[in-house]
Amino acid sequence: MNQDEMKKAVAKAAIDYIKPGMTVGVGTGSTANYFIDELAGIKGQIETTVASSEASAVRLKGHGIPVEELNMVSVIDVYVDGADESNKYLHLMKGGGGALTREKIVAAVSKQFVCIADESKLVDIMGEFPLPIEVIPMARSYVARELVKLGGQPAYREGFITDNGNVILDVHGLQIMNPVELEQTLNNIAGIVTNGLFAMRPADVLLLGTPGGVKTIT
Ligand code: A5P
Repeated sequence: MNQDEMKKAVAKAAIDYIKPGMTVGVGTGSTANYFIDELAGIKGQIETTVASSEASAVRLKGHGIPVEELNMVSVIDVYVDGADESNKYLHLMKGGGGALTREKIVAAVSKQFVCIADESKLVDIMGEFPLPIEVIPMARSYVARELVKLGGQPAYREGFITDNGNVILDVHGLQIMNPVELEQTLNNIAGIVTNGLFAMRPADVLLLGTPGGVKTIT
């Protein structure tokens, strides 16, 4: 199986977690897109979906899958999304597609978080993928200086504006030994809206695509 086939395989496997009448949180990115395509096959059985980005909402609606605003639902039963990196504790790094803020909100609301990823995403120590940070535009330079103090090399994601009207700094050069601690530290820097570490609320299940098939890690 190549990487794309592994992504498709985990997207298909995630359908097992969707039960009739559920409200489904839907993530963003190429793996989540395959999940949306699979979800189309059972769209008559679910209550509704909540999308973590405008792009995913458009794809869902394109399949005729209902999409609801988060404020209109009281619970999300299961959230299915990809990741840029995961460690064995299911701490994730997300935001490669820039949707991290809405993703973190949807993850917070969801009873169960099923992460779907190909095996290249599983790492021992997170940080090889640059850590995405969504920043209020006026705070960009200040936040960048604070990130340098933490040992990172922030790069401004040129020409990219998030669904919330903010900018992204991608932080290179971090070796994230304690993801929970770094997530909390970053949360305390004024001007940071969201950082891409999903460690305080990790995934509950990781469906990992491997050449031999889908592995379930809990
Ligand atoms: C989107 O902002 C990200 O959090 C994605 O979940 C992540 O980048 C994974 O994307 P792929 O499935 O395209 O690798």
